[in-house]
Amino acid sequence: MNEMKIPTHVGIIMDGNGRWATEKGRPRTDGHREGANTLKELAIHMNDIGIKYASVYAFSTENFKRSKTEVDFLMNLFIEMFTNEFEFILSNNVRIVFSGREEPLSKKVLKAMRDIEEKSKDNTGLVLNVCLNYGSRSEIVDMTKKIASMYKSDEISLDDIDEELVRQNLYNDLPDVDLLIRTSGELRLSNFMLYQLSYAEFYFTRTYFPDFHNDEFDKAIEAFNDRNRRFGGV
Ligand code: IPE
Ligand code: IPE
Ligand code: MG
Repeated sequence: MNEMKIPTHVGIIMDGNGRWATEKGRPRTDGHREGANTLKELAIHMNDIGIKYASVYAFSTENFKRSKTEVDFLMNLFIEMFTNEFEFILSNNVRIVFSGREEPLSKKVLKAMRDIEEKSKDNTGLVLNVCLNYGSRSEIVDMTKKIASMYKSDEISLDDIDEELVRQNLYNDLPDVDLLIRTSGELRLSNFMLYQLSYAEFYFTRTYFPDFHNDEFDKAIEAFNDRNRRFGGV
């Protein structure tokens, strides 16, 4: 992939874990575990090829509608990942940050998140932005509240509110997403990064996330290289 253009920021909607497992006659939770393994592999790969930021959709604000069994399994899986399984990723210089609301995550999950963020804060490779209890609409609401309170306390004036200030007050101050990937064949955003995706290139594949290995990821990078990004110009 030497002469490839590498996107600075990749977004991934990691979808299809449940169907991957169901089609194999296994419980949905097996799909989540396999998906987590795929993410570990992809994080190393993205770091190796020089991607600077990856935002991965791990759990949406809407995913709390699922059964308690599935939600509990996912929360425990997150704890396990952040406390042990991501060790190798961290030793490869990857930094972990999170986007999402704290409420109603448990203290245990929040502690595992804070710990890995702290542990990896000086890493200078790929920034892996894990979107957990994330919703784009809540992010925009929370950003609006932050800016409103800055205005109210006279920290800023009305004229200071611009696109830059909005970006800085989202959950993380990251550059625009260049390439958005959604696995599993669904053609929708499901409340993912509406502001950051304004000029992203979209790549959809029917492959379920657990099977979305490095070679599949490279196909998305190849497709990105065939796009002509005009940003409104000619
Ligand atoms: C994505 O896979 C993982 C999460 C949403 C947590 P799904 O669990 O949505 O898998 P499908 O879409 O039901 O196959
Ligand atoms: C989006 O997938 C959320 C994540 C991948 C974490 P969903 O499976 O929850 O989305 P819908 O319900 O198909 O829109
Ligand atoms: Mg799904």
